[in-house]
Amino acid sequence: MSASPPPFALRPNLSPLPVNEREMVMQDPGFGDVFTDHMVQIRWIEEQGWHDPAVVPYQPLTVDPASFFIHYGQSIFEGLKAYAHDDGGIYAFRPEQNARRFQRSAQRLAMAQLPEDLFLESLKVLVTQDRGWVPNDAEKSLYLRPFMFATEVGLGVKPSDEYLYLLIASPAGPYFKGGLKPVTVWLCEDFVRAAPGGTGEAKCAGNYAASLLAQAEAIDNDCDQVVWLDASEHRWVEEMGGMNLYFVYGEGANARLVTPALTGSLLPGVTRDSLLRLAADLGYEVEEGKINVDDWRKSAESGELTEVFACGTAAVITPVGHVKGRTGNWSMNAGAAGPITQQLREALLGIQTGTMPDEHNWMTRLA
Ligand code: COI
Repeated sequence: MSASPPPFALRPNLSPLPVNEREMVMQDPGFGDVFTDHMVQIRWIEEQGWHDPAVVPYQPLTVDPASFFIHYGQSIFEGLKAYAHDDGGIYAFRPEQNARRFQRSAQRLAMAQLPEDLFLESLKVLVTQDRGWVPNDAEKSLYLRPFMFATEVGLGVKPSDEYLYLLIASPAGPYFKGGLKPVTVWLCEDFVRAAPGGTGEAKCAGNYAASLLAQAEAIDNDCDQVVWLDASEHRWVEEMGGMNLYFVYGEGANARLVTPALTGSLLPGVTRDSLLRLAADLGYEVEEGKINVDDWRKSAESGELTEVFACGTAAVITPVGHVKGRTGNWSMNAGAAGPITQQLREALLGIQTGTMPDEHNWMTRLA
């Protein structure tokens, strides 16, 4: 049996945001714009391992200009949400999955791995300390952002032998303003996000950096997000960078859902994984498969493909209404949110916010 995580020191913020200002901010927090009064920090060095876990005031960092992460990009993160339930508890959705993916990302980037119990304990201590920042309304939550980067100083290229783990938290509304308003996506045909053998399935900062030029192209073309295709043939749909994708064929009880299979270059999303089970619970046929971009267009035009939606922690479930690309544009469900997208969204949010039974024991009480 592993020893329980070491106790976290508490260095409280002596000038937290006054309650009335906090409440004002939380009425319309946006996404990732405001942060709570505290953060967690834990350091790792080779000789000591993980040590001195602490809850400290949220504050700017002082970093050496020659820190490894700045130059060579050893930097990973996670994203998960905490919800206030009617029983007075604060809960997270499958946080152990984030802990394990954080370890896999660390392993891929040759970084130290944070033990799962220390990851979970960090969520608990921060949410306990900043409990007043957890929104109560259905469309809001406290977004938790654990991250870790290499702090060794020097310019030699090698895995760092020092890391800093931080956890910050931000009250958040919907990632896409407008809730169920369908998004328009830009089919990226010029660049690739991740190649076989690369870092596509790690949640590392570099993957997001590599996506930004295409995201700028998407915005220039009046699109909300980029859809990435595979690196070898540029035909197989992978994901949207910050979200996974689901395709719905047919209607009603006969509908069949397909999500691109994990090839090693897609991020294995916790929401994606949960929907494989939730869709089956609701009686739908659901599978992991391969979606060819030409078939996407043809099946949308023929009406066989009835709905497409994006899913992720930040986005929850967001309908995809239109696709734009250099070789043409098309729509799903005449650009409107489809019934299965809405049904799954309600089922998932019901579990997360505690208004529906949690049959898979997915929720973990943090505070
Ligand atoms: C999340 O859904 O938590 C993400 O990491 C997506 C994005 C905001 C980077």
